[in-house]
Amino acid sequence: MISVRGLRKRFEDKEVLKGIDIDIFDNETIVILGPSGQGKTVMIKSMIRLMEPDAGEIYFDDENIREYNKRELEDFRKKIAYVFQNSALFDFLDVRENLALFLRMHKKMHEEKIEHKIVEALSFVGLNRDVLDKYPEELSGGMKKRVAIARAMIKEPKYIFYDEPTTGLDKKNAELVSNLIKVLKQKISSTSIIVTHDIELMENVSDRVALLKDGKVFFVGKKEEISDETFEYLYSIGDTYEI
Ligand SMILES: Nc1ncnc2c1ncn2[C@@H]1O[C@H](COP(=O)(O)OP(=O)(O)OP(=O)(O)O)[C@@H](O)[C@H]1O
Ligand SMILES: [Mg+2]
Repeated sequence: MISVRGLRKRFEDKEVLKGIDIDIFDNETIVILGPSGQGKTVMIKSMIRLMEPDAGEIYFDDENIREYNKRELEDFRKKIAYVFQNSALFDFLDVRENLALFLRMHKKMHEEKIEHKIVEALSFVGLNRDVLDKYPEELSGGMKKRVAIARAMIKEPKYIFYDEPTTGLDKKNAELVSNLIKVLKQKISSTSIIVTHDIELMENVSDRVALLKDGKVFFVGKKEEISDETFEYLYSIGDTYEI
């Protein structure tokens, strides 16, 4: 379980997170929904200290990760996969090496086993061996996303964070990614945390939804519990709203 209390983050004169409180339960898929510029990316990056928060506590299974030193943090991150907003594959590595990286660095695994795992993950995301020797710049946006999800899957993480997994994809690819998120959750039963402004994605995958506005989570519950007024408030112009 993840418990976040009073999480704050400021950039110069702009306070982006103004005291985030949220509990995330094991094996759930929680969608954090909010308009552009509300601090969704800052929130999840701060939650795993990819960005250093200014204040607050972050408990993963009762351990306050804000107290972790560098080594403890590195160990902790082995349990976590993060699918970045821009997929963030390594441009100088081909798909095979992008997928193999974690296994090579942290697992003592034979080459055949690594290759097997890579091919298995690729086929799970609907790609075949042809892409193994390609570099990220040779892939479409949808394919990059799928490779990024395959890379997350290979880690068999306890927690997967997805930042805008469907943004920039056409309807067909967005649906495909949305289904992958669901099936992957069943396969490796990770806790999935998704930030997005894609309402269709939220409707398709969420067990619960958290709504973020003006630096705070002001609603957490099931999607059926979100009233029209709540949605209106979410998309009305507020303190940190930017176009
Ligand atoms: N490294 C940084 N330095 C300064 N300001 C930043 C930094 N990262 C984010 N911000 C600011 O924090 C605010 C929230 O940004 P964030 O990227 O978290 O929004 P978001 O909700 O993820 O938006 P989007 O939906 O467009 O991805 C923005 O005003 C942004 O300019
Ligand atoms: Mg973002």
